[in-house]
Amino acid sequence: MGVELKDRVAIVTGAAQVIGEATVLKLAERGATVVGVDVLADRLSGVMGSVPGGFAVPMDVTDAEADRRLVQDVHKRYGRVDILVNVAGGILGAPAGIERISIKDWHRLLDLNLHAPFYLSLAVAPIMKAQKWGRIITVGSGAGRSYSRTGIVPYTAAKAGVMGLMRQLGVELAPHNVLCNVVSPGMIASPLGRVEMERRTEEERAAVYSSIAVKRMGDPMEVANVIAFAASEEASYVVGQTLTVDGGHWMF
Ligand SMILES: NC(=O)c1ccc[n+]([C@@H]2O[C@H](COP(=O)([O-])OP(=O)(O)OC[C@H]3O[C@@H](n4cnc5c(N)ncnc54)[C@H](O)[C@@H]3O)[C@@H](O)[C@H]2O)c1
Repeated sequence: MGVELKDRVAIVTGAAQVIGEATVLKLAERGATVVGVDVLADRLSGVMGSVPGGFAVPMDVTDAEADRRLVQDVHKRYGRVDILVNVAGGILGAPAGIERISIKDWHRLLDLNLHAPFYLSLAVAPIMKAQKWGRIITVGSGAGRSYSRTGIVPYTAAKAGVMGLMRQLGVELAPHNVLCNVVSPGMIASPLGRVEMERRTEEERAAVYSSIAVKRMGDPMEVANVIAFAASEEASYVVGQTLTVDGGHWMF
């Protein structure tokens, strides 16, 4: 048993690996037709080849015009767009600390982590309003809820920004049955999570694990499970929230 997404049409960004890949697999398993988007064309086609229906769109989500065209194409093809999951995001190799971060890094990270979810939300909102059903889910981070353990300033600012974006859109769109939420992962086993751990000494790693109630990193599918719930009819009274999936790290 699990949430039902039969006949739903979903767009998932960052679909080529880790949390995005798990989200594609989970939504498809629940019956949704999934359109997967990522810059990593080969990996993306591998993921999309493993689910029935849907298709792969290799593109850069920071291009607002490409985002608009993507949504139009999906709408034209299926006649609806029910679910948008903004997973694409990350630190893009930016350095920690205010004295090392550049203005260019600031813009690159804001473009990917905050502006792209806005561009895509802008494109899907009128369609979802007209069909009186929609779910916009943006993947946040514990960094946005509190602060970043990696110390990457624009990442924290952008992830805090998506919480505001989902709250404000949530208020505006909920009367149209378009519900917006953030799903906020903690330390998930992924290249990003591993890099973060490798930067630390053994003592620091032990301290990180001791700060997580379940004493382990999360699995991408544990995040995808919550995304699938937020994308479903069963989340019909959940609006503007940050659903935290971090094994009990931040508890408020
Ligand atoms: N892994 C973690 O521990 C963790 C923790 C908190 C939050 N997150 C968030 O979860 C999301 C997914 O992270 P992940 O761990 O799966 O990382 P990841 O880097 O493996 O996945 C991000 C995906 O986004 C794609 N992408 C990057 N830039 C893009 C662009 N401009 N256009 C299209 N696609 C682009 C990448 O190719 C990649 O496939 C991110 O938003 C990240 O900030 C991850």
